[in-house]
Amino acid sequence: MKPIQVGLLGIGVVGSGTFNVLQRNQEEIKRRAGRGIEITMVADLNVARAQELVGPGVTVVADARAVIANPDIDIVIELIGGYGIAKTLVLEAIAAGKHVVTANKALLAVHGTEIFAAASAKGVMVAFEAAVAGGIPIIKALREGLTANRIQWIAGIINGTTNFILSEMRDKGLDFAVVLKEAQRLGYAEADPTFDIEGVDAAHKATLMSAIAFGVPVQFDKAYVEGITKLGAADIKYAEQLGYRIKLLGITKRRQGDAAKGESDGIELRVHPCLIPAKRLIANVEGAMNAVVVQGDAVGTTLYYGKGAGSEPTASAVIADLVDIARLHTADAAHRVPHLAFQPNAMSNLPVLPMGEVITSYYLRLRVADETGVLAKVTGILAESGISIDAVLQREADEVSADAKVAQTDVIILTHDCQEAKMNAALVHMQALPSVLEPITRIRKEELA
Ligand code: HSE
Repeated sequence: MKPIQVGLLGIGVVGSGTFNVLQRNQEEIKRRAGRGIEITMVADLNVARAQELVGPGVTVVADARAVIANPDIDIVIELIGGYGIAKTLVLEAIAAGKHVVTANKALLAVHGTEIFAAASAKGVMVAFEAAVAGGIPIIKALREGLTANRIQWIAGIINGTTNFILSEMRDKGLDFAVVLKEAQRLGYAEADPTFDIEGVDAAHKATLMSAIAFGVPVQFDKAYVEGITKLGAADIKYAEQLGYRIKLLGITKRRQGDAAKGESDGIELRVHPCLIPAKRLIANVEGAMNAVVVQGDAVGTTLYYGKGAGSEPTASAVIADLVDIARLHTADAAHRVPHLAFQPNAMSNLPVLPMGEVITSYYLRLRVADETGVLAKVTGILAESGISIDAVLQREADEVSADAKVAQTDVIILTHDCQEAKMNAALVHMQALPSVLEPITRIRKEELA
C-alpha cells in the first residue's frame, strides 16, 4: 500500500520533533501501521528555515491553505496553536475531507463541540493525544484502555511549568515570584507564562479529560481555574510538616449528590493548588514531569507518568495519532473510536457543578494576634458553619517587633470535607475577626485515596 501522506502546519519545536522521529523510526512505524507515513508538505511562515529542517524532498510553502488544498494529502497536522487561524484551518481541513491531528488543547477545550461535530459529519477523524500531558498516552488510556470502567475521578499534574516552579519552591524554600524569574531565565517558563501559572493550560487539559471520562461535551467555560501565583513558601513548609505536598492539580469527578443535604448530581471540573498526602506516588512527581491518576470502578487506581511537553515526547503522541489514522483510514466511520470515547448520540447532559457546590477539604492559614481566645473564636465559627476540623497546628509566637503591639503567630487548620460555599461564608466571618491580621490563606486538600 502506498504511504499515507501528511501535511504539517507549523514546524516549530513539536513539528520538527515529529518530522525527525517519523524519519528515524520509519521502518518500525511502517511495520506497526501497515503502511508508510510520510510528511510530504509543510506550511510555515519561515519557509527557508522550514526547508532547511526537512530537506529538499519535502514541499515547503508559506500558505497553510495550499496544504489543505493538496488532494494527495490525507492527514493534516495542526501545530500552530491558539484559537484564531488554527480553528479556521482545522475546520477547512475537515471540510476538505482531511483527517486532523492536533496538539491544540486550547482550541479543542473551547471549540471542541463544533470541531468534533464537523468531523463526524464529514466522516474524518480529529486526533489529539498530544493535547493532554504531552507524551503520556492518557487519551488512549481513557478512551480505550479503561473503556470497561465507570470512571469516578481523575486528578493530574498536567502542567510542567507550574510543577517545576512548585518543586523549586519546596526544595529551596523560595517564594513564587523568585522561582518564576529563575524558571524564565532557564527557559522552563515562557516569557509570558500567564496560561501556565494561572492554571488555564491545565484547565484546557482537564476539560478534555473530563469530557472523555464522563461522556459530556467539552465545557472549558464551566471549569473553575485558579493558578499558583499566590502561593507562599510558608504554606509549602507548613504543608510538609503536616505530611502533605502542594501541587497544581487538574481534577474532574463524577459526583453523586446526597439529596438530603441539598447536594445535586454533577461533574466537578477544577484546577487549583491542592494539598495531597506526601506518601501518594503523584505527590512525588517533581520538576517538569506530568502524572495523571485515574480511578475506575473496575480497575481501581491507575497512574500515568511521563514528560508532558518537549519536542520528541510530544511528537511521540502526534505520531501515535498518525498511526491510528493510518490503520483506520479505510474503516467505516462507525467503526472508529468516537472522538470523546462515547457515541455522539449517547452523550450525557450531567452538568458541571459550580465551584460553590464542590465538596472538598481545606488547609487554612490565619495570621493572628497571639491573644487569649483567638483560637476559640476561629474554631467556633467553623463549628457554627458545620465544618469539622481534622487538625490544628499553632506555631510558636514570633518575637514582638518594635512596631507591633502584640506577638503574632500562624494558626494552621485542616478541615474535613465540606461544601465550598459553606467554607466561603465561614472565611468571611473569620476574616472579620479583629485578631485576624492578614488575608486568610485557603488551599484545597484532596486525599486521593
Ligand atoms: N506549557 C505546558 C506545560 C506544556 O508547562 O506543561 C504544553 O501544554
